[in-house]
Amino acid sequence: MELQGSTVIVTGGSRGIGRGIVEAFAAEGANVVIGDLLGNAEVAAACAETTAVLRAAGAGVHAVEVDVRDPAANEALVAAALSTFGRLDVVCANAGVIVPKPLAQTSAEEWDFMFDVNAKGAFLTCAAAIPHFTEQKAGCFVVTASIAGKRGQAGAGAYAASKFAAVGLTQSLSMELAPLNIRANAICPGYLGTSMWLNDILGRQKDAGKDTSQVFERFATQNTPLGRPQTPADIGQAAVYLARADNVTGVALNVAGGLEQW
Ligand SMILES: NC(=O)c1ccc[n+]([C@@H]2O[C@H](COP(=O)([O-])OP(=O)(O)OC[C@H]3O[C@@H](n4cnc5c(N)ncnc54)[C@H](O)[C@@H]3O)[C@@H](O)[C@H]2O)c1
Repeated sequence: MELQGSTVIVTGGSRGIGRGIVEAFAAEGANVVIGDLLGNAEVAAACAETTAVLRAAGAGVHAVEVDVRDPAANEALVAAALSTFGRLDVVCANAGVIVPKPLAQTSAEEWDFMFDVNAKGAFLTCAAAIPHFTEQKAGCFVVTASIAGKRGQAGAGAYAASKFAAVGLTQSLSMELAPLNIRANAICPGYLGTSMWLNDILGRQKDAGKDTSQVFERFATQNTPLGRPQTPADIGQAAVYLARADNVTGVALNVAGGLEQW
């Protein structure tokens, strides 16, 4: 796929991994459309910074308020990409949340929250683009899953289950849509020091006054075969590869420093 002049949607593209994906596609000459929870002041500030940096570099960028749990909001996101840039080529369903708790302590509401965003949200974002991709007989989905979508996780079981669902969604999309020349692949990142780790997973340590960047760095370094955490740029590089790889569909690609091997 030629990325110069293409249009790419990235949900949760304001910060963290999503920002890495947005920057990687913009560097290839793609126009990017960020769908995120812009009603949240912190997310809106991150989005403003990301879009300003990209615009200064000459990229085409548009940001849309989207809650991926809402089917109509996902449809409006696709419509905004088409009306702003006149085409849509790649959809990255990246938005995600975690409530890191052992299963015995996970409430039904917390289970639903993670499944609603990580599994149903990814489904709704992809589903919104299927009619357009079907019409143009081309298109590519990249779903941000996790190594937690390949191996159960003690202390984050509901999150892992929702990421297994995201991998299953991706594989099923790839099989249903292959005859239409529409591809679907997932990326399974390992450990990244984004807000998800520094504020959500290490929230208790943060509340106790610890420097969670240091705690994260030590943990990720010790527990990753390559001896370092991943970066948003690593994940962006993989997303660009998957968008370009015209004969690759249905894979769940680990970008995890050797942490997971299948
Ligand atoms: N950080 C890691 O180590 C890691 C590892 C594997 C997978 N992931 C996955 O990567 C993705 C990005 O996470 P991150 O680490 O950058 O965390 P992050 O918290 O920095 O970013 C998450 C993004 O998703 C957005 N989001 C959350 N709920 C949303 C909703 N309902 N609608 C629209 N947007 C929503 C947030 O506003 C934010 O922009 C997630 O799917 C996460 O599960 C992260």
